[in-house]
Amino acid sequence: MVFIGGNKRVKNTRGVYPKLKGMSSHKLSTTTSAVEDSDLFVYVNGKLVQRNDASISVWDHGLLYGDGVFEGIRAYNGVVFKLKEHVDRLYESAHYIRLKIPMSKEQMSEAVLETLRENKLQNAYIRLLVTRGVGDLGLNPMNCSNPSIVIITEPTNSEEDPISKPVGVSAIISSIRRDPVDATSHEVKSLNYLNSILARWEAIDAGVNDAIMLDTQGFVSEATAENIFIIAKGQLATPSIDSAILHGVTRQRVIEIAEDLGYVISERRITPFELINAEEVFMTGTLAEIVPILKVNGRNIGPGKVGPVTARIFGEFTKIRTKTNEGTPIYSNQGKSGEIRAPLQEKSLTKI
Ligand SMILES: Cc1ncc(COP(=O)(O)O)c(C=O)c1O
Repeated sequence: MVFIGGNKRVKNTRGVYPKLKGMSSHKLSTTTSAVEDSDLFVYVNGKLVQRNDASISVWDHGLLYGDGVFEGIRAYNGVVFKLKEHVDRLYESAHYIRLKIPMSKEQMSEAVLETLRENKLQNAYIRLLVTRGVGDLGLNPMNCSNPSIVIITEPTNSEEDPISKPVGVSAIISSIRRDPVDATSHEVKSLNYLNSILARWEAIDAGVNDAIMLDTQGFVSEATAENIFIIAKGQLATPSIDSAILHGVTRQRVIEIAEDLGYVISERRITPFELINAEEVFMTGTLAEIVPILKVNGRNIGPGKVGPVTARIFGEFTKIRTKTNEGTPIYSNQGKSGEIRAPLQEKSLTKI
């Protein structure tokens, strides 16, 4: 039995959230040291380029105007979790901003898998982005000829070193509102994250881990890069799409998990009052997975400890996330539990 490597390079994992006084830092982030990972390849416009040489032009409108779309995806034990859903969302975002991606969804998925294979990764964070491409200094998107496509993959912690318990964080309610549908729609996962970044600055200034953003009418929307769930009077609720949220892939899977576990769950508008008086609050996202929020604006949520419903859903999520039927296997010769049965002979993209 051969296990594909990559995980041994994981040394300097940082928390998704900074460690704050009185709170544990939240589990893994993606990255390792750039020096150790200099042998990783990055997909840039159809070629695999050494990490340190991977670049795109300063004339690219992704840089000049944030004109592009992206996805953050994860692989667990050799299976890319919900790859199809992420690729579908990428193409929907691109369609909305009138960016024609010059390859099919199947080709895009294969490019993701091949980049992971070249980097011999089983547990990874994947950043997939498509920009408007190289243009001139003017705004006009018609002057950009070819979209740029970049796929970055980095090792994450191994499933052999699982995070068995959810770790709670604190948050504030930000003064920065999520984008309304008639601006840059909140449903587009675009390269412009300035409202989330401004909200995150407020969290940093307040000495808490994250910021919860409201929609323009003052209803709870989502955190800076995660969707929100509350448990109130034993029932689960999450802000509906008319509350300026992103259609989170993890959010959707958590709704299904909650239903399978027999909870009543609704997608609806939630007031800040309901949030603060909830028995439990947690957020969901690809990188963060499931993170309990124990304090909001200085008030404890419930008893200020990880609640039983959150713990149960977290437990279920950690069980399903590695399953082959939850995503797309990276290696064609992969067994059900993620082990590789024989040395690989996969086809390769051009390497530079
Ligand atoms: C603004 C925002 N909301 C929610 C999410 C969670 O979405 P997902 O579960 O698809 O990662 C993300 C993460 O990408 C995000 O950036």
